[in-house]
Amino acid sequence: MKSLTRLVLPVLCVSHAAADPLIDSMNGVFERAETQYRLLMGSMENARHLPRSIKGDGSLATVPPEDWTSGFFPGCLWLVHEFEGAPEWREHALAYTRRLEGIRHFKGNHDGGFMLGCSYGNALRLCPADEHRAVLRDAAAALATRYNPAIGMIRSWDFGSFAFPVIIDNMMNLELLAWAAANGGGATLLEIAISHSDRTHEFHFRPDGSAYHVADFDPEKGWLRAYHAWQGRDVRSAWARGQAWALYGFTMMHRVTGNKLYLDRAVGVARFVMNHPNLPDDRIPYWDFGVAAPDGEPRDASSAAIMASGLIELSTMVPPADGGKLLEFAAAQLKSLSAAPYLADAGSNAGFLLRHSTGNLPEGSEIDVPLIYADYYFLEALLRYRALKSGIQRKNLSEVK
Ligand code: GLY
Repeated sequence: MKSLTRLVLPVLCVSHAAADPLIDSMNGVFERAETQYRLLMGSMENARHLPRSIKGDGSLATVPPEDWTSGFFPGCLWLVHEFEGAPEWREHALAYTRRLEGIRHFKGNHDGGFMLGCSYGNALRLCPADEHRAVLRDAAAALATRYNPAIGMIRSWDFGSFAFPVIIDNMMNLELLAWAAANGGGATLLEIAISHSDRTHEFHFRPDGSAYHVADFDPEKGWLRAYHAWQGRDVRSAWARGQAWALYGFTMMHRVTGNKLYLDRAVGVARFVMNHPNLPDDRIPYWDFGVAAPDGEPRDASSAAIMASGLIELSTMVPPADGGKLLEFAAAQLKSLSAAPYLADAGSNAGFLLRHSTGNLPEGSEIDVPLIYADYYFLEALLRYRALKSGIQRKNLSEVK
């Protein structure tokens, strides 16, 4: 994969797509998503909250709009609407999206891209309106207030004993800035996204291509103080979801900028995860690449869903032979997720679609549970796969006006 050039997308005929078992299984998966999300919507007692996971007793765990995961359920509803085209799902998606309207100026974390990008961003993609554009511009402006010019990065968290923590996850929030920069928010927003990506490229990676979770910087001098594991096993180990955020985030920033360094970075992470000796045969990683099966460790289906979605896009950016391998790997992940034990039986799993994700094992939190962002990236990956294989044009947030 060393000589990487942009690949012209193969436009495959629909009859070929109909013979693809993964595409053939999608109707069933999206029907299951409908059943599950009706159950979830029926269980939402708090008119302000959104579903995130389950609690220890198996009951539904919901969050206020200020939580980093708030945008994923509206996003799932939009993706069901995208697949189905049914107005009913657009109305559900709009209703849940509007629960986030009040956080359009929220500056309390770096997660605006997750929160507003997955909700209002999908609203804009699928149901264009100035109402959505205005919220996205406000959210981007709020996110940009967390940028520190001495470091050239956006601050991730305000908690803990860090000086200026930046987590690899934050790559995912940059698409919101890129969209806003191209749509009336000001060129500075793209400059911030690029600076953050450049610095992440420089500081967040090990020689084997894997990403650290947390890099802590000196806010005045701008220099790196220390690395921290946080959600990973230890500072030398590779937290599975962190690798997925890195892969997806640098792929997205390559789409936005065309910068070859970002492409190489995404390919490096892809190589690391795809060839890792601790990766199980079904391609669904354990929660950290430093742990292996005999330890009886939990999986993280969310990391597989995010990786699959990122790999499908990355497969279009590299030479065809390499792209084929990336796509094959992503399809294997999606095939695993589309069946037991990952795909939930209808009416089970508190209404979530996927089982077996892990949120924060070192803190003993959300271990081997459903997580709404696993559902979101799974559905997105399926839609990306279908679009690629069927020659359907499908735009990402950075590509819409
Ligand atoms: N962005 C937080 C997480 O991936 O758990």
